[in-house]
Amino acid sequence: MALTALTLLLLLLPGSTRGDEPGVVQVVVQEDSDAILPCSPSTKENLELKAFNWIKENDSQRDVFLYQSGVTSTGAEKFRGRVSYFTDELKNGNASIIIINATIEDSGNYICVFPQLVPEERFHVELVVGASPKPYFNQVNFRGNRLHLQCVVRGAFPKPEVEFQDSAGNVLPAEEPKVLESGQRYTVTLSTTLTKTDRFRCVSKQKEIHHETFAEINVGVGEKNGKVDNRGSLVAVFLGVFSLAAVLA
Ligand SMILES: *[C@@H]1O[C@H](CO)[C@@H](O)[C@H](O)[C@H]1NC(C)=O
Repeated sequence: MALTALTLLLLLLPGSTRGDEPGVVQVVVQEDSDAILPCSPSTKENLELKAFNWIKENDSQRDVFLYQSGVTSTGAEKFRGRVSYFTDELKNGNASIIIINATIEDSGNYICVFPQLVPEERFHVELVVGASPKPYFNQVNFRGNRLHLQCVVRGAFPKPEVEFQDSAGNVLPAEEPKVLESGQRYTVTLSTTLTKTDRFRCVSKQKEIHHETFAEINVGVGEKNGKVDNRGSLVAVFLGVFSLAAVLA
């Protein structure tokens, strides 16, 4: 579960400031982890006896969480039991909420509104809930003296870019990736045919969420006098398959 261990990045996106509103804050988490959506008015005044609403934009079930003087209500069914605020933070002027076990479907634009503040203050938060499954090699075989590799990334969000690399980190030529979309998830299959043996990586990159993960495979062949013996039996020796995940901040 190393991947779900809080991949929380707070990025202030310059250029997304609208009028005199504060900028949009982007929150990125992996699915099944918890997402904190930040909201703190500049006045830092005690909010315990105030009102604030969290709304998800462009959603038919837009009410996320409503607070008024200590009375709370979760809005839409899908948020029920999954959203709460920080009781002890209100007096510090902090109306952030937490969404437990975030799902890909929770991704979207949220607004925190203080209807009573004059002027009314609104805070925009873009939540991206990523799914970053590790790639895996599902085909490693020889056709003649050519090595055929196929790698699959199953059920990722956002759509990953997949590539093969050799042990020196060079990106290897590959066929056009096959992309299947199901719900909001993407399954990407990438194939290539190579004429050398090496330690290869299949790398899955999701730039939007600054995430990268890869699988690694060592392919060696029986060699005679430095030449590949393609008359006899070509045996691929898999010295090991490793999968590693890296989070690039
Ligand atoms: C508001 O409270 C949350 C939860 O404790 C915390 O993560 C966040 O940093 C706080 N924000 C500010 C501006 O103090």
